[in-house]
Parts: sequence; C-alpha cells; structure tokens
Amino acid sequence: MPDPSPDQLRASQLAHLRDTLARVYEHVPHYRRAFDDAGVHPDDVTSLADLARFPFTTKEDLRQNYPFGMFAVPRTDVVRVHASSGTTGKPTVVGYTADDISMWADVVARSLHSAGARPGDVVHVAYGYGLFTGGLGAHYGAERLGCTVVPISGGMTERQVQLILDFEPRVILVTPSYFLAILDEMDRQGVDPHTTSLEIGVFGAEPWTDEMRRDLERRAGITAVDIYGLSEVIGPGVSQESGTTQDGLHVWEDHFYPEIIDPVTHEVLPDGEEGELVFTSLTKQAMPVVRYRTRDLTRLLPGTAHPAFRRMQKVTGRTDDMMIVRGVNVFPTQIEELILSIEGLTPHYLCVLTRPGSLDELTVQVEAHPSVPEGERAGLGSRLGARIKDRIGTTATIEVLAPDALQRSLGKAVRISDRRGK
Ligand code: DLL
Repeated sequence: MPDPSPDQLRASQLAHLRDTLARVYEHVPHYRRAFDDAGVHPDDVTSLADLARFPFTTKEDLRQNYPFGMFAVPRTDVVRVHASSGTTGKPTVVGYTADDISMWADVVARSLHSAGARPGDVVHVAYGYGLFTGGLGAHYGAERLGCTVVPISGGMTERQVQLILDFEPRVILVTPSYFLAILDEMDRQGVDPHTTSLEIGVFGAEPWTDEMRRDLERRAGITAVDIYGLSEVIGPGVSQESGTTQDGLHVWEDHFYPEIIDPVTHEVLPDGEEGELVFTSLTKQAMPVVRYRTRDLTRLLPGTAHPAFRRMQKVTGRTDDMMIVRGVNVFPTQIEELILSIEGLTPHYLCVLTRPGSLDELTVQVEAHPSVPEGERAGLGSRLGARIKDRIGTTATIEVLAPDALQRSLGKAVRISDRRGK
C-alpha cells in the first residue's frame, strides 16, 4: 500500500469521517442517543475540526453495550470477534467484517514493511493467539506482506528458542517483556542471541522505554521498533515506528484519526502537546468508534519516514497506571528507565503500592542480574532508591530480588500490584 500524499489524505479523511458518523448515527442506538444529547448531527460536519464537537466514547460505553450493542452492521456480517480481558467486570467485545479484517491485514503489512520486514522473510509471531488481537492481527498482516509466518503464540519458552534456531526467522513479533524471557531462556541454554537469525523485533502491546530498546538491541543484536494498537480501534497496526528512523510511531491516519485531549478538561490540544490519545475510525465497518478515549498518554509530531502521516511519541503510560505517591505522579516507565541506568539490575520489576497508614507507599521489586553476588544486591537497591528520589522526587523502598524471583508473563507484563486496602 503506497502512502497517500498529504492532500489526498486530508480529503479522504473528511469524506470517511462524514460517512462513519452517518453510519453510526443510523445504525448504533448508543451513538444516536449520544449525538442527540450533545446536540450534534453528522450532517453538520464540514471540516475535520468539527469532530471536536462530538461526544467521547469510553470503555464503559462499550461495556454497557456488551456484547454486540455497538455493532453498526447486522451480526451476520461480522466474521470475527475479539475481546479484551478487562480486569473488572465484563470484557469489551469488538467485531470485524471481512473488509475490516482485510484493512487490518493491510495496516499491519504496512507496519511490518515500515519496521523493515520484507516479502519472503520468516516471521515468528509470539503474541498470543485467541481473543487477544496481537497474534491473529500480526499473523494476517505478515501473510499479507508475503512473509512465511510461524504462529507459535506466547508460552513454551524453551520451544520458542528451539524454533528460532531451527526456522531462522528474521523478524520476531512479541511483547518486549516476553522477549526478555526468551532472551533469558537463550542464556540458560547457552545460546548467544547475537548468533541467531533475528534482525528485527517488533515490540508492543505494553509500554516500554528507549532504555529498554537499547538493552534489547544490545543483548540480541537486533533493531527494536515499537508497534501500537488497541482492540477497540483494530488491534496492532494503528501506528508503527520505522526501522530506519526509530523516532516514534507513524499513525496510519487514513484509517484511524487521532486527537490529543487534556484528560481533565477534555479540550483538544495542539500537535506537540502531551495528553490523552483519542481515536475515531475512518474506514471500519463492523464497529467504528467515535472519539474513543484510549487513556494512553502521548503527543503528536510531524511525520518523518512517512511524511503524510503524523507520528505519536512512544506511549509513556496510561492514565490508569499513574501512581500518586506522596503527592508525586509516577509511571512504571519512569522506574524502568532508572532501573536500566544501573548496571546489575534487570528490567524484571514490579511496583507494589500499599497504604500502611494514611499515605500510599511504593515498593519497587527488581531482580538482580545473575552475575551480581548476593552481598551486593542491597547496594544496588540503595542506588536505585537514591536515583528515584533525585529524578522523580519520591521515596520508594527497593527490594532487590534474586534472578527469576518475579513471575514472568507470556504477554503483557504486569507492572503494578495495588495492595492498598487489602
Ligand atoms: O495490545 C494490541 C496490540 C497487540 C498492540 C500487539 C501491539 C502489539 P489491547 O489488548 O486492546 O490491544 O490493549 C491496548 O495496550 O491502549 C495501550 O495501553 C497498550 N499498548 C499497546 N501497544 C502499546 C505500545 C493490544 N506500543 C492497550 N506502547 C493500549 C505502549 C501499548 N502501550
């Protein structure tokens, strides 16, 4: 799929936006009610800026219309559903028509090409297959690009290593935290990751830092790029970092229209300012979303490798993941960055929140590298504690644990354990 010119892009965005708004108004009772309540009508939209007058859609709206209430086509036109687990209550369900699946394959193929993958490459897909969008989304996109797909899914870490050695993939798609587990398994088996066929890692589904990128690239001798997406919008392939520029993720704006809002005042912010990312579907058939609040924090920047499209900066965190410790806002990614600045600590970590009295307390549990003698762990902990105090401005208790002490996840890593009130 060649990139459109900026003019082509703006013209098609407006036409698609008007079409989407009209379709959801006609076919989805939730949107008709929400637009009527806000006093807006799809016919009033004459520019992209008019979208700002429309109401937001939240995860709660999707939950309330569980399971199929947000579909804009008859259920019989829906060829696939996915669902996000959701920690509390009902999962959120999303649906796809055959055309949606095809568009999804196109955007993931474009993403993989931008990452550096080429037709003919062997692609190892270790994102989970199933209701989670990661595995199947990556799979269809890699096939569309003309690659040979190894659909291993997550788990069976020893076998992951075996198949990497046997099938010689050039590209791996996996969460960065599970890739770490695969690298640890290579260490255990005495396999030097630099000697494998892997050249490109397409990592996403969870926040990860540039420090983590450097660590993974150094350990594995690969180029590591970021892929972003969410089920409500399509799955992986909403935006992608180029393997050439590695400077944030180009948003495929011909399909997904981004806005950045102030999460508190809900005002639309200009490009360059950080806030909450909001998406409106432009071409989705089965379940388009209008101004869907992702809760992900980032900023929009001009395009580079794909000049027609704006970039989004690497997601620093989700509004839900913001910990407030003694009045200071802290995201797990900030802790990750500091952990990786200390030789001897590994990026296997967990932020534990407790409330022993009236104030929240943060304990960071982090594993030491196997080469660190037990007697030196406490010293590393003191250094991390001091760095957190100095750079973030809050006090944290640090527990430096033995290698393998923390539970590994096969997909998205859990970075916060909230034990307040328990
Ligand atoms: O995680 C889709 C996906 C699969 C993206 C594989 C990339 C690779 P959900 O399970 O619906 O979908 O979770 C979406 O995960 O709102 C972000 O909070 C987070 N997320 C996804 N990609 C990134 C990323 C998939 N590259 C939620 N950086 C999103 C930071 C990410 N956070």
